[in-house]
Amino acid sequence: MVVVGFVLSIYLFSWVAHSITYPDDFVIVDDFRKGLLNPELLEWPADNTDPCGFNWPHIVCDSAGRVTQIQIQNLGIEGSLPTNFNQLSMLTHLGFQKNGFTGALPTFKGLSKLQFAYLNYNQFDMIPHDFFDGLTSLQVLSLDNNPLNKSTGWMLPSSLLNSALLVNLSCSECNLRGLLPDFLGSLPSLSSLRLSYNALVGVIPESFHGLTLKELVLNNQEGNGITGPITLLPPMASSLIIAWLHGNSFTGPIPDNITLCDFLTDLRLNNNKLTGIVPPNMTNMTNLRVLKLQNNNFLGAIPSMPFASNYTYEYNSFCQSKPGLQCSPQVKALLDFLNGVDYPAYLATSWKGNDPCSTNWLGITCLSGKVTVINLPNRNLTGNISPSISQLDSLRTIVLGGNHLYGTIPKSLTALKYLELLNLTRNNISPPIPVFATSVTLLIDQNPPMTSPPSLSPGSDSPSYWDPSMDKSPQSPSSTTKSPQSHGKKNTSLTIVMPSCIAGASLIFFLILFFMHRRKKNKKHLSTVLHPRESYDPNIKITIAETDDGDFQSGSLSNSHMINSGNLVISVQILRNITRNFAPENELGRGGFGVVYKGELHDGTMLAVKRMQSSIVTNAALNEFHSEISVLSKVRHRNLASLLGYSAEGNERILVYEYMSRGALNRHLFHWKKSNLEPLSWTKRLNISLDIARGVEYLHNLASQSFIHRDLKSSNILLGDDFRAKIADFGLVKCAPDGQNSVATRLAGTFGYLAPEYAITGKITTKADVFSFGVVLMELVTGLAALDENRPEESRHLATWFSQIKSDPEKLKASIDPTLNISETSLESISVVAELAGHCTARDPHQRPDMGHAVNVLSPLVEKWKPTSKDDDECTGIDLQQSLLQMVKGWQAADCSLNSMSTSHDDSKGSTPSRPNGFAESFKSTDGR
Ligand SMILES: *[C@@H]1O[C@H](CO)[C@@H](O)[C@H](O)[C@H]1NC(C)=O
Ligand SMILES: *[C@@H]1O[C@H](CO)[C@@H](O)[C@H](O)[C@H]1NC(C)=O
Ligand SMILES: *[C@@H]1O[C@H](CO)[C@@H](O)[C@H](O)[C@H]1NC(C)=O
Ligand SMILES: *[C@@H]1O[C@H](CO)[C@@H](O)[C@H](O)[C@H]1NC(C)=O
Ligand SMILES: *[C@@H]1O[C@H](CO)[C@@H](O)[C@H](O)[C@H]1NC(C)=O
Ligand SMILES: *[C@@H]1O[C@H](CO)[C@@H](O)[C@H](O)[C@H]1NC(C)=O
Repeated sequence: MVVVGFVLSIYLFSWVAHSITYPDDFVIVDDFRKGLLNPELLEWPADNTDPCGFNWPHIVCDSAGRVTQIQIQNLGIEGSLPTNFNQLSMLTHLGFQKNGFTGALPTFKGLSKLQFAYLNYNQFDMIPHDFFDGLTSLQVLSLDNNPLNKSTGWMLPSSLLNSALLVNLSCSECNLRGLLPDFLGSLPSLSSLRLSYNALVGVIPESFHGLTLKELVLNNQEGNGITGPITLLPPMASSLIIAWLHGNSFTGPIPDNITLCDFLTDLRLNNNKLTGIVPPNMTNMTNLRVLKLQNNNFLGAIPSMPFASNYTYEYNSFCQSKPGLQCSPQVKALLDFLNGVDYPAYLATSWKGNDPCSTNWLGITCLSGKVTVINLPNRNLTGNISPSISQLDSLRTIVLGGNHLYGTIPKSLTALKYLELLNLTRNNISPPIPVFATSVTLLIDQNPPMTSPPSLSPGSDSPSYWDPSMDKSPQSPSSTTKSPQSHGKKNTSLTIVMPSCIAGASLIFFLILFFMHRRKKNKKHLSTVLHPRESYDPNIKITIAETDDGDFQSGSLSNSHMINSGNLVISVQILRNITRNFAPENELGRGGFGVVYKGELHDGTMLAVKRMQSSIVTNAALNEFHSEISVLSKVRHRNLASLLGYSAEGNERILVYEYMSRGALNRHLFHWKKSNLEPLSWTKRLNISLDIARGVEYLHNLASQSFIHRDLKSSNILLGDDFRAKIADFGLVKCAPDGQNSVATRLAGTFGYLAPEYAITGKITTKADVFSFGVVLMELVTGLAALDENRPEESRHLATWFSQIKSDPEKLKASIDPTLNISETSLESISVVAELAGHCTARDPHQRPDMGHAVNVLSPLVEKWKPTSKDDDECTGIDLQQSLLQMVKGWQAADCSLNSMSTSHDDSKGSTPSRPNGFAESFKSTDGR
């Protein structure tokens, strides 16, 4: 009954007078009136309770008697608002601006119909945190000029994000404090944002660039204000009409593409820390009426602005004092230089005016009005070297060491005819280095990119290849035992490490070393670079170092991680000289751990100099370095690339090898067309496979200790002049415990060549090398790379595919490299090699033969196909597969015995080549001085 009565009374109510005020709304309106000090200004009838029915002034209602608008702007009203104000829940418009309201703003929470709220120019001194909650219809909100939360300041809360229709947001001089909130950039309809005279800091958030603002008004923040660059990203640029950014701490230049702001009429950038050249084609911004640039650090010419009625540009570092005048050529060139290094503020304030010589320009020295010196070392300069400094044609000295310069040295600098010194030490300059006249001293030490390959290898998670405990083990491989604890430890780390290693391994881009030894017409000129100590004298004597007799040739294992140094140590300076300071034009190749350079000794002997990238001298990289020295000083074989020396000074880690003129095998197999090479004949391929087999056999069984190469692949096989092969890159070599047992390691190697059991378990035996060798044989037969993503799925992985087709004679025949000229006899030997390849790549490591077997299979084939090439290099008196020490001993010991060199090289260790006369004679290093 009660319910029925209530419904009925409402019905009657709206039926009797449908503009009668909803009683609850009247209660709030009445409270509102009671809170005012001067309510009479509203002219509301004192004893009337029906604002809607009686059309009270300043109040608008809807047909249901709900109050929707209160419009009392600029009436001089004083007082405060009731706390329950948000119960006027049908409000759409509020015009309270320009009155004398005081006290706290009540919450507006839930005023979901409110579209326009003008609260500006009052004395509200508090805003509750939930004020903005649920204002889902809000289009305009103006809170300017209220001392809100004066003591603490405040910030717009992210609940404002519910106001997706918000077009104008204005809160100037309302005590906002802190960072410009990111979320404002997500207000989809925002077109005018006015937040000047607050205490905002930080940069304009990235998110703002998504806004289509017409007005961006952020001027005159208290304190330093807003910082960072002015960037203009579309779509904001295309919408912007007014941008007031003055009175902040913006830095950097005006972006060139400001001219894309077609509608911009009022741009105020004054009183910031802006710098750089004002884009000259702002001249063409026909809508720009107001441009204020004063009180910044702008440089260069003042553009003339024929379309602007208000244009101010005083108090800057412009080169001229009037618009439209150009800067002098020297100033232009220097400003281009500044542009390259992003206009550092201390230079923008110092490089004022149009004459770098008359006033006191920091770092500039002149002679007769011409700039001769740019001296800005250790100045935090960050950026590129501008090519336009070459227009300063009297320059003698450029000192820019100890900055953060990157990019390359502009080629145009080589045209500076008076240049004496270009000091770029300690920067980040990249190769190539242009060729300067010899009169120029170019200092480019300590620029990491000069020594870095562009792509980083997975070196950082490379394993520790050289286990010192192995070094202490007895010489005989069979008596080497593994330590159970240490292997247990390795096994536990294996599961964690393997996935990243697998990923890493596919990235491995292995160093290609080129080796050769050069046959000299005159053997008396042979000399070898070896020097035991540092010297920076360019006219250095290079002599054979004193050695401890036989210490490393005996193959005995020292306890030291390093080899017995001294024998092979070469000073970095000498290597600098012979590679012309690691000149880019001498670069032979790049790999995971550094760059390989060609070096040429005074007598024409070529060397390959592998320099580690100084920035990746990690433990793993050092381990590889030591491993390589360690292994190569213990193993010497004609089919293993020889190490001639190394350097380890400061951050430099350099290895010196013989130079192999024909480069890596893969080039001849897969890239011969691109490299303009002849495809390899079957004879040559047979010889190469036997060479590899012998080298690996030696590593496995015949060296003083058993080694596993772990990274056998065609890019690690290097060819000499005579197409004989040597195995290179011993950075991953591991001591094999013995023939049977495996050793657990972290995975290393290259996909396509990895033995399955090694890839899966991480346990390695010499049989993993046998597998890789088998893959190389397949490559030799088919001319296909071990792994090629461009091949169809089934033949992508050569080893898998080949094992499927090898037993079918037709398929096998079809798989043979089409560049091979197949005769009956060669087909026979190809089949033998294919079969050997199949055995070597057997899934079960026990089913794979050892390398001795491979040698036995291959040598009769080679005999049958004996090539014309018969090595006669020994008679030239240099045999680089020997240790140098042996050579010296040989030379010291005896006369040349031409017969003493056997044609079999595996036992050439003790041979005594001729001693060139005058060997110990000094020769000058070849740095061209
Ligand atoms: C202006 O240039 C900057 C960088 O140079 C670029 O990111 C931005 O998109 C450009 N703005 C416009 C409107 O093209
Ligand atoms: C001004 O120059 C910039 C870059 O040089 C260019 O993107 C822009 O279109 C030019 N604007 C006008 C109006 O010429
Ligand atoms: C202004 O625009 C005109 C034509 O659009 C062009 O020829 C002139 O070089 C421009 N001026 C500048 C300073 O970019
Ligand atoms: C231009 O400057 C004058 C005086 O400096 C000022 O009175 C006028 O309002 C300004 N015009 C604009 C569009 O700002
Ligand atoms: C370079 O930067 C460092 C740290 O940012 C600063 O301490 C130093 O004063 C700066 N030097 C110059 C010359 O600006
Ligand atoms: C080259 O610059 C570096 C770094 O600023 C400085 O230490 C060195 O003395 C300079 N060398 C010469 C010859 O000016």
